[in-house]
Amino acid sequence: MPGRSVREFARKKRAGEPITMLTTYDAPTARLVDEADIDIALVGDSIGNTQLGYDSWMDVSLDEIAIHTAAVARSMDDTFLVADLPFMSYGATLEQGVESAGRLVKEAGADAVKLETPPGGEVTVELVDRLVELGIPVQGHIGLNSQREKAEGGNFVQGRDREESATAEELVETAQRLEAAGAFSLILELTAEGAAKRIAEAVDIPVIGIGAGRYVNGQVLVVNDVLGFGGSDYRLSKEYADLDSVVSEAISAYADEVRKGEFPAVENTFDPVDEE
Ligand code: KIV
Ligand code: NA
Repeated sequence: MPGRSVREFARKKRAGEPITMLTTYDAPTARLVDEADIDIALVGDSIGNTQLGYDSWMDVSLDEIAIHTAAVARSMDDTFLVADLPFMSYGATLEQGVESAGRLVKEAGADAVKLETPPGGEVTVELVDRLVELGIPVQGHIGLNSQREKAEGGNFVQGRDREESATAEELVETAQRLEAAGAFSLILELTAEGAAKRIAEAVDIPVIGIGAGRYVNGQVLVVNDVLGFGGSDYRLSKEYADLDSVVSEAISAYADEVRKGEFPAVENTFDPVDEE
């Protein structure tokens, strides 16, 4: 079996080597992510806003995640591929979650699935346990659970002593339950640094942060934010390029040349007619 396995990530945590993870939604990006030796690619439900033109990640369907997961899987050799279980593709019954996860791994070619667990989330912990027993690796997702945005009345920083936030103790306890259920790793989103540090110390499995500060076992970001390509300038993120400018200049230059009759030129033409 080529490429990385779940064992690699546990080893990295023990060795103190940060794990690199990036969302990846399409074939050309997947090739570059694979070449850059990124550890984990994620077909996240963030695809709803970043690629599919929806207002919310909650509009993304299992079909859409499956199509993009398959495109990414075909385009990578070594990078470990995680696919998000989107809103309402799990939780109705155990059977529904198992079938959705099975589709993403068996048909689309993901190496693992990821799903969100709030503090006290028995339904999803039971699903993690079932999937792992069946042979599907699962990455948990705690801290901010953006699929619960409507239930929470917004998206709030977690690990704070505030009414709208899970406490550090609640998050530690949830992390430990997911570890006991067999999750190979956890995503920890939008969480105060002190709480994040405690969570990473409380479990042996790697905790990969997004907006969770410096004392976790790896980092994940949304690729559009990293590339400056239709991204958002969240405090938790960092732009390493300005693709919006590069792409917009190229599109304008092309349109300009067509309008001026400069493209196509002779070298772009088959059996050109001689000009007199
Ligand atoms: O969908 C996504 O991009 C995610 C990351 C925020 C981890 O779940
Ligand atoms: Na997600």
